[in-house]
Amino acid sequence: MSTTRSSTTPPTTGATRLRCIACGATPDSAAQDFRCIACGDLLELFFPGWTLDQQDGAEPRHHTDATALKALWLERRTSREELDQSGVWRFRELLPSIPQEHAITLREGNTPLYHLARCARAIGVENLRAKHQGMNPTASFKDTGMTFAASSAHQGGFKWVACASTGNTSASMAAYAARGNMHSLVLIPDGKISWGKLSQALDYGALTCQLRTDFDGCVSILNELVRQKPVYLLNSVNPYRIEGQKTAAIELMEQLGWDPPDHIIVPGGNLGNSSAIGKALVEMRKLELISRLPKLSIIQAEGANPFYRCVRELGGKKLEPKTLKPMTADTMATAIRIGNPASWKKALRVLQATGGEVEQVSEIEIAIAKAEIGADGIGCEPASAVTLAGLKKLRRSGFVKSGESVVLILTGHQLKDPDFTIQFHRGELFSEMPEAETAEAKRLQRAPVVLDANLGAVIAALDSAERDS
Ligand code: F0G
Repeated sequence: MSTTRSSTTPPTTGATRLRCIACGATPDSAAQDFRCIACGDLLELFFPGWTLDQQDGAEPRHHTDATALKALWLERRTSREELDQSGVWRFRELLPSIPQEHAITLREGNTPLYHLARCARAIGVENLRAKHQGMNPTASFKDTGMTFAASSAHQGGFKWVACASTGNTSASMAAYAARGNMHSLVLIPDGKISWGKLSQALDYGALTCQLRTDFDGCVSILNELVRQKPVYLLNSVNPYRIEGQKTAAIELMEQLGWDPPDHIIVPGGNLGNSSAIGKALVEMRKLELISRLPKLSIIQAEGANPFYRCVRELGGKKLEPKTLKPMTADTMATAIRIGNPASWKKALRVLQATGGEVEQVSEIEIAIAKAEIGADGIGCEPASAVTLAGLKKLRRSGFVKSGESVVLILTGHQLKDPDFTIQFHRGELFSEMPEAETAEAKRLQRAPVVLDANLGAVIAALDSAERDS
């Protein structure tokens, strides 16, 4: 391994700059709300040294050595260094630089890639896998972005960090803040997040405010707050969150031997994750770490589908940013109950760059897909299951072909929202269901059986299950 490294250019990546995604302004520092001071749109981080555009007479472009980078990242997997053991910081050459003394890590990333054999057979795709981001330290994909953005808060000397959340961001932020000796303020919609997620924020010591509004209402208040108080904003408008979340895609490509799948499918809520994964794919292509781009498709719940409607209303015309119409969102997949997604323009760019699709799925489709993933021995939270439900639709429409390879990004752990799972299996989630779905749900439901404590009753239950199997 060391021979490979010493025989090639040392892999360096150069400095990053901030840039507004709308007007292109490149401020030296970000405002408290991470919005462009000139036009109010979102900022992103870019790496000037990576540009492939070589102007006449200009210096030859800096070329990051793809082979050397891959070897270096592989070598770090056996390292005893704290940062090398993180599945985020291991890829630090593709991230902005943050001095090591500010890095806060829980050894996030390093998440498994599983085959979903039964689901694949049922849907009719040969190669279906799930990258389980719910296997992160606080059990959701948020940790990959949070390690990085919380470290940036630490570097900035902030005492307080804050976020608005549907539950997972707050759990993750509270943990990383605690690890970095910072205080955290959580704004969550009262009664609209799962107990599992709320309990995490409490245990990690956050000041947790349950506001009588929805997620979008919490975001509005937080945006005002950060303009008045020296509090560091950790929602995904923070471009450092996006940078950290890129590593899920980098790690995925490494797990696939740098041979990209045909499709990657992600849930869409505030649209930070799709933006991050898409950014990583485009950057990896640019740096020649991969030779082609997978199509990245985004799935929303029908009751929280502003992005789906925005894209579909373009009516097959060339995708260009049209004003997204915010809505009042409602879905039992509470993680993605979002009506005014902050990163929709970034996500639209990702759809354009990769040729992906956008789909919406119903509550029943989500519940059935979740049980199917569970039956494959994996499990996930409801918002993650939209990916499988969406894949079924994309397969039916012919967008995904049977011979193509597909990776679903499962964003949260099954135990984040056990109430949903128990209600589904007890048949209590829906008051009524169409006949076809009822049959499908019945096939998957495994309600607990209450029996007298005697051997005969258990054997009878076993025999009956055996007959039905
Ligand atoms: N899946 C899960 C489990 C989530 O928690 C979220 C977002 C998403 C998908 C959607 O990702 O917003 O990047 O498009 N949860 C946020 C939160 C909003 O506050 O925990 P996105």
